Amino acid sequence: MQSPIRLGVIGCGMISQAHAVAIRFNEHDGLVRCVAAADPDPTAIDRFVAIAGEVDSRYSDGLDVIADPNVDAVVLITPTRFHRELVLATSDAGKPLFCEKPLAPTFAVVQELCTAVADSGIVAQVGFQSRFHPIIQTLRELIESGELGAPMGYMLRDDQYWPTGAIVPGHSSWRSDISEAGGGTLLEHSIHSCDVLAWLFGPASRVYATKRHVFGYSVEDTAALTIEHGSGVIGNLLSVFNGVRGREERRLEVFFEHGAVELTTDFVVGAPEDSLLIQRPDQPAERIDVDALRKASFARRGCDPERDYYVYQYFAYRAFALALREGTQTTPNFDDALRAHSIVEAGYRSCDSRLPFDLGDL
Ligand SMILES: NC(=O)c1ccc[n+]([C@@H]2O[C@H](COP(=O)([O-])OP(=O)(O)OC[C@H]3O[C@@H](n4cnc5c(N)ncnc54)[C@H](O)[C@@H]3O)[C@@H](O)[C@H]2O)c1
Repeated sequence: MQSPIRLGVIGCGMISQAHAVAIRFNEHDGLVRCVAAADPDPTAIDRFVAIAGEVDSRYSDGLDVIADPNVDAVVLITPTRFHRELVLATSDAGKPLFCEKPLAPTFAVVQELCTAVADSGIVAQVGFQSRFHPIIQTLRELIESGELGAPMGYMLRDDQYWPTGAIVPGHSSWRSDISEAGGGTLLEHSIHSCDVLAWLFGPASRVYATKRHVFGYSVEDTAALTIEHGSGVIGNLLSVFNGVRGREERRLEVFFEHGAVELTTDFVVGAPEDSLLIQRPDQPAERIDVDALRKASFARRGCDPERDYYVYQYFAYRAFALALREGTQTTPNFDDALRAHSIVEAGYRSCDSRLPFDLGDL
């Protein structure tokens, strides 16, 4: 039996809690073990290891995790503005990397990091866990099979309760500041949706966008994009950081030549928001049993259908660990992230110019 991949985690804040659960489950599967954690705040490490399990080494500086010879692969979960230095150091060290999205606050740095990772040849995954959602995967299978004909257009509404210190005490207040976060609901949250859209319909070619700052922060809380894909598919994305505590949902409607699909999802496994409706010609709309779909999807991936996985991050880590074991590149990787970031950047440029923006001009 192969020994587990020894992970070193950098950044033990809010979302590291979800990573900790995913790491714990994957440790149970014999795939990974967290051996090191870094955060300048020691109490943050305490909270992380309370879920992930005690680590062999604790550091205040993330660079020490990368240099630790006992760390096989680096997990980067710091606020976005700190990613650059740590991605470059991990690439230089030649260690595999699991990096949270967005890669960086500015598109120029995103491009720099993608080039550095490509040049280094490291296996590098990006935290786009939405792709691992069985409902999203079912939609992709429907597209690939051609069963409903070609996709024509879509509407995607994506919203999340605003995760800032001003609204939730103690939560990641850097998200409200454009100099730290680089952007609001479009970059910080809906980059997940941009990844999903590029994965489903191919790379985007042109974007027209507008945005608002209703809560008065320097980052936007509302953005609306019209997206043209190179495949010909066109669609609309509405992205909202909402003020409705407890709410977080993605709703996607796709029209095909011979069918229509409506779905809703959340980030939590088995969330009440999950739904899938498929309409075929001359038939009543079929409401899919999403519980059965989820369990079948888990079983197909060799996972226990009855286990409570909690977050889809579990499957993201599983994919990362299996890619490292098999010596293959993983997805979603930095190339995928560049495609998603390109949609976001084109959106912001269009907001500035009030004109459509061609992605070929990036
Ligand atoms: N995939 C997702 O769905 C998802 C969800 C939320 C956040 N994120 C991303 O994850 C990242 C972290 O977000 P968060 O909400 O956990 O932020 P956070 O502010 O809650 O936590 C970040 C932690 O990193 C620590 N830190 C800062 N610099 C460090 C360094 N050099 N070395 C080690 N630790 C350092 C901070 O002390 C803090 O504890 C961001 O890029 C964010 O966009 C992704």
